[in-house]
Amino acid sequence: MPNSCSSSLIIVENLSKQYQLSEPAVLKSVSFTVEKGSFVSLMGPSGCGKSTLLHLLGALDTPTSGTVRVNGAVISAFSEAELALFRQQQLGFVFQFFNLLPTLSVLENVSLPLLLNGVSNHQAHAVAMDWLGKVGLSHRAKAAPPQLSGGEQQRAAVVRALIHKPFLVLADEPTGNLDSASGEAVMTILKELAFAQGTSIIMATHSEELARQTDRLLRLRDGVLVQDEPLKPLHTEVLA
Ligand SMILES: Nc1ncnc2c1ncn2[C@@H]1O[C@H](COP(=O)(O)OP(=O)(O)O)[C@@H](O)[C@H]1O
Ligand SMILES: [Mg+2]
Repeated sequence: MPNSCSSSLIIVENLSKQYQLSEPAVLKSVSFTVEKGSFVSLMGPSGCGKSTLLHLLGALDTPTSGTVRVNGAVISAFSEAELALFRQQQLGFVFQFFNLLPTLSVLENVSLPLLLNGVSNHQAHAVAMDWLGKVGLSHRAKAAPPQLSGGEQQRAAVVRALIHKPFLVLADEPTGNLDSASGEAVMTILKELAFAQGTSIIMATHSEELARQTDRLLRLRDGVLVQDEPLKPLHTEVLA
């Protein structure tokens, strides 16, 4: 496997995105790397290109130029079949508005990534119940998502993003629609569950406070990466 000796999970090189020829590029030659298991925050004013960057990293859109390598593979070169597998096995998403399927129960929602990856119904529900317990939602397993508070829905969405042990979770303003206490709770479970299994996270946020809890800060301004700096040595909390 290419790059297997490197600890870089993601290598972004000269990534640009221009939606319309008549408009300026939304991302301008952005380059950075993300280490395996690290938690990276992505900041910058509304419209600076955060969501666009997350979409390119998740292969939900294609770059105008430049490359995104995940585990050595250039994702824009994937075939449809490779892309489907990449999303199903290696990625998780958390969105601002939760995006749980309203007609399925919370348990069914968080079991889905396991079922899509071939885990039996019985086993998927057992694992999902265990994870719902970890985030304090055992008693909500049978409920439909709209019956839950925003914070509860987002905790379920975090479980859904991580339960199949992806390499990478992309979170687009996951606390943007929550009060600060619920946002903190979501941040804590995102951090702890991802760290426990070595999943990398890239999280767009407007909160300096939440960003300060991550390993690394990327800041965009008008599509240009203007800051890329470590915030603390990786995972000091385990060594302390
Ligand atoms: N699908 C699209 N087509 C055209 N322009 C878009 C599209 N998506 C985003 N944009 C534009 O790209 C710029 C960056 O948007 P976005 O990545 O959503 O920024 P952020 O997430 O930082 O608020 C904005 O000017 C937005 O209007
Ligand atoms: Mg956005």
